[in-house]
Amino acid sequence: MKKILVTGGTGYIGSHTVVELQNAGFEVVIIDNLSNSNVEVLNGIASITGVRPIFENLDCLDYVGLDKVLTQHEGIQAIIHFAASKAVGESVEKPLLYYRNNLVSLMNLLQLMPLHKIRHFVFSSSCTVYGQPDELPVSESAPMKPALSPYGNTKQVGEEIIRDTIRANSLINSIVLRYFNPIGAHPSAMIGELPNGVPNNLIPFVTQTAIGLRKQLSVYGDDYNTPDGSCIRDYISVVDLAKAHVVAMERMLHQKCDSNLEVFNIGTGNGLSVLEIVKTFQEVNGVTVPYKIVNRREGDIEKVWANPEKANNVLGWKAEESIEDTLRSAWLWEKRLEEKRKESLRN
Ligand code: UD1
Repeated sequence: MKKILVTGGTGYIGSHTVVELQNAGFEVVIIDNLSNSNVEVLNGIASITGVRPIFENLDCLDYVGLDKVLTQHEGIQAIIHFAASKAVGESVEKPLLYYRNNLVSLMNLLQLMPLHKIRHFVFSSSCTVYGQPDELPVSESAPMKPALSPYGNTKQVGEEIIRDTIRANSLINSIVLRYFNPIGAHPSAMIGELPNGVPNNLIPFVTQTAIGLRKQLSVYGDDYNTPDGSCIRDYISVVDLAKAHVVAMERMLHQKCDSNLEVFNIGTGNGLSVLEIVKTFQEVNGVTVPYKIVNRREGDIEKVWANPEKANNVLGWKAEESIEDTLRSAWLWEKRLEEKRKESLRN
């Protein structure tokens, strides 16, 4: 069985990817410091797949600890690196935290790979590297714009670190996946997004408002140059996104890559506005989401959606889940969290 190291494997995208990897027959070793996730996620993964992944509670900043884990779990063939901080606003306030967490972790792993004879590396990047693109849908060849936040910059610099490392060490092979906006949860509702405190992202705020945890959603601006004035994003099912990692992994392990560094947009190709998301969420789930229009959020991009053709044609991956089903899964997950909250109040 092929063994894969997944950093950040108890996180939102990480946990869904571990499920898909295990379903595809990979053995998974997770490293996570649980800074933005819960160890109970492992139970969710086990109940979906019937397999409990190996788990190491470790910070990727800990080079010596990483070295030990890689020695202990001999035979790891590839790394999928999710572990990173991702709150845009927080990154503006704590830039050094973001640069350290996101870049030192990456450098530690890249440095350890040749020492442990690991060749393959999948990196979680983001459409944030494009800034506001001049042309839409945006393709992988679009120029990068100056990042609007330290978080965004860590993704741009992260990609450059990988590029330079590969130039110097031709044994390393990497696929960089630029995610658009992952949303939703596993259809079993056994795993999903677990935001810490007040959610920054749209969907957890929508679901928490619908369940009554928040009074109303603030829609950040309706005066953008878009049909209804609210921002447009490419919302992609987290399960579809997770599956892209499995396809990328198989491509690398079967030596099918065209070069040592390949970059793919992982999106649906469809842009939806904030107001369209709210409307569709209400319709498919039969719930109300009270909202008000407020000022624009600083640093927000007006509109961005993917040209996913390269991923479709070269990687052989395509987003399949409808936005309706994805928004249903997000609601199912929130309802399950609500049951758990009630249960813990009773105990
Ligand atoms: C951003 C980054 C993404 C990053 C992610 C991590 C871009 C284009 N995207 O996503 O790379 O991985 O943060 O958190 O830079 N909104 C509201 N009310 C809310 C919350 C959000 O109206 O309470 C709106 C936002 O203005 C935006 C949309 O919903 O238009 C999506 O916001 P969010 O879920 O935070 O994701 P991005 O900002 O697109």
